[in-house]
Amino acid sequence: MKKIQEAKISGKRILVRVDFNVGIENGKVKESFKIAAAKETVDYLLARGAKVALLTHLGRPEGKVNLEFSLQQLASDAELILCEKITFVADCVGEKVKEALDNLQDGIVLLENVRFYAGDEANDADFAQQLAENFDVFVNDAFSASHRDHASVTGVAKILPSYAGLRLQEEIHEMTIIKDHPVHPAVAIIGGAKIETKVPLINNFEKTYDAVLVGSKIAMEAKEEGLVFSDKVILPIDYAEGGLDIGQETIEQFKNIIAGAKTIVWNGPVGKFEEKPYDAGTMAVLDAIVASGAFSVVGGGESVEVLEENNLLDEISFVSTGGGAMLEYLGGKILPGLEVLS
Ligand code: 3PG
Repeated sequence: MKKIQEAKISGKRILVRVDFNVGIENGKVKESFKIAAAKETVDYLLARGAKVALLTHLGRPEGKVNLEFSLQQLASDAELILCEKITFVADCVGEKVKEALDNLQDGIVLLENVRFYAGDEANDADFAQQLAENFDVFVNDAFSASHRDHASVTGVAKILPSYAGLRLQEEIHEMTIIKDHPVHPAVAIIGGAKIETKVPLINNFEKTYDAVLVGSKIAMEAKEEGLVFSDKVILPIDYAEGGLDIGQETIEQFKNIIAGAKTIVWNGPVGKFEEKPYDAGTMAVLDAIVASGAFSVVGGGESVEVLEENNLLDEISFVSTGGGAMLEYLGGKILPGLEVLS
């Protein structure tokens, strides 16, 4: 991958694809972590004299302007998190963007939701051209959106000189360690829902890891579909309330396995954690990961939400911004947003 360390930056107009696809509650950002993840790259580019505009999606507005998904709601929080003055532009292409860059004296530009245009998800070549035309350089710093073959991820990267941002580089570095060089015993904990998205991941970890612990919902889905795994895959032996969480015996079994691990990967809560008391399994797993002292990597929106809520982000060796992207990368797929930077 081409890296921003190789790019000519001074005086350039740089479009940075970030992922500010975060929850918002009462006008406040829920996962500040995802916004903070862009800070290193923003600081790096500003320190070298670039004009920086951040481009992201938020939610799934289905190609139409819908202010419920406007980036304007994030602007003041992002200003505090990134410690930079933010000029919000109510569009992501065209004259308004050019004007904002022409007039930018300090700080950065935050562009409106790229998914207000259907051309983003359709990866329309004309739309990619419009995104590119106000800029000299493109930087992808959004590992968590790199599984999307969209105009703002791959389309624009085919037009402008394009580089991996610092956060993206770090994500790939950590993902490669846990995928290809885990220290044993290595344990993967796979929770959440939608078994079809988790099977390639479970199958990959079966080959290289010592144990794969499976959460309640996907274990039940796997049983319904008659899926069979090797002995390394440990399904719950008991459940709480018909499957809303793993049961007490399973909690004890999972805790013992986690305690002996040297590498731990966790993606997805093992029960319906948002509803007490069905968070018991997830909290026990999390406590066991922290207590283990193992090299730990956590990803997936809900797992990171649990970490943020419990102030445990700093207790994990590496917290990935990637949800679906992490699943696909660790499941062995080549992500289009990374491939295009090669
Ligand atoms: C995520 O939150 O995992 C990414 O932002 C991708 O969002 P998407 O699934 O709507 O493409």
